[in-house]
Amino acid sequence: MPPGHKPDDGTQPARFKAKLSGLPETLLWTLWNRACEAGHADPVLDDPLATALIQALDYPFEARLGPPHPLFSQVQGLRSLTFDRAVLRYTDRHPEATVVALGEGLETGFWRVDNGRLRWLSVDLPEAVGLRCAVLPEHPRLRVLARSAADLSWLDEIDAPERGTIVTAQGLMMYLRPREVREIIAACAERLPGGALILDSMPRWITRLTREGKIRIGELTIPPMHWSMAPGDRHRLYSVHPRITEVRALTMERGRGVTGRFIQYQHLVPVFRSISPAVTLLRFA
Ligand SMILES: C[S@@+](CC[C@H](N)C(=O)[O-])C[C@H]1O[C@@H](n2cnc3c(N)ncnc32)[C@H](O)[C@@H]1O
Repeated sequence: MPPGHKPDDGTQPARFKAKLSGLPETLLWTLWNRACEAGHADPVLDDPLATALIQALDYPFEARLGPPHPLFSQVQGLRSLTFDRAVLRYTDRHPEATVVALGEGLETGFWRVDNGRLRWLSVDLPEAVGLRCAVLPEHPRLRVLARSAADLSWLDEIDAPERGTIVTAQGLMMYLRPREVREIIAACAERLPGGALILDSMPRWITRLTREGKIRIGELTIPPMHWSMAPGDRHRLYSVHPRITEVRALTMERGRGVTGRFIQYQHLVPVFRSISPAVTLLRFA
């Protein structure tokens, strides 16, 4: 049932039960934040599908994840916007590129950045893909793969890598093992000439708290995160593969009000830079 679908008899559509637990359930938290942001009078991210998804899903968002949080929802909106802009910059130069969205959950980036020509490959764990396929519309240029991002066979599914490929990993890499993260980056560098990869990362103190089960969002305990990267260590990613030609920080887009300014400029203040999530762009020769 695509969101917004209305039965012909004028009754409300039946809602789809979201039965997720463990890691896949975290996709409902990021969706909740984007939908809360979309509901703001002056949203940083235009994401009407996120709002429609919240209405289409039978899940106790507020009871389970807490009420809308102005900081989390704006950060989430700005993070998605930062990824969107990087994808748009790439597809401006490679309009028929494939965008591979690893761990995509219920992100709706395809509908925000589609140029009418790109292809989109969404990769997530089977539970997450089952929900995605049930509640998001199909599209002829959009494919969904139910498998782990650590199973590198998704690279075989990219139709025409010579037209360009940009891989996104939003809210994913921190949950993988460091060896898996390095293998994914190395495989992209090896097999996607001229391609790019965008990922976000968490600092070590946050990943450690998750492993101790100490970060809770409402009733949800954030699952253990295994991979961390301090912004100062970004340059170490060059050592993963010789075809990595650029490793660059992407600064968050400008946000709203004082909070938005803080989010945009926190990377300029060392004490905040070392404790904040960071977005990184890698390019391949
Ligand atoms: C925090 S959510 C982020 C979802 C989405 N990218 C977003 O920003 O809204 C983490 C996502 O990673 C997915 N995930 C976790 N481990 C994965 C793996 N090994 N391979 C693929 N996806 C994975 C989860 O199912 C979930 O969709």
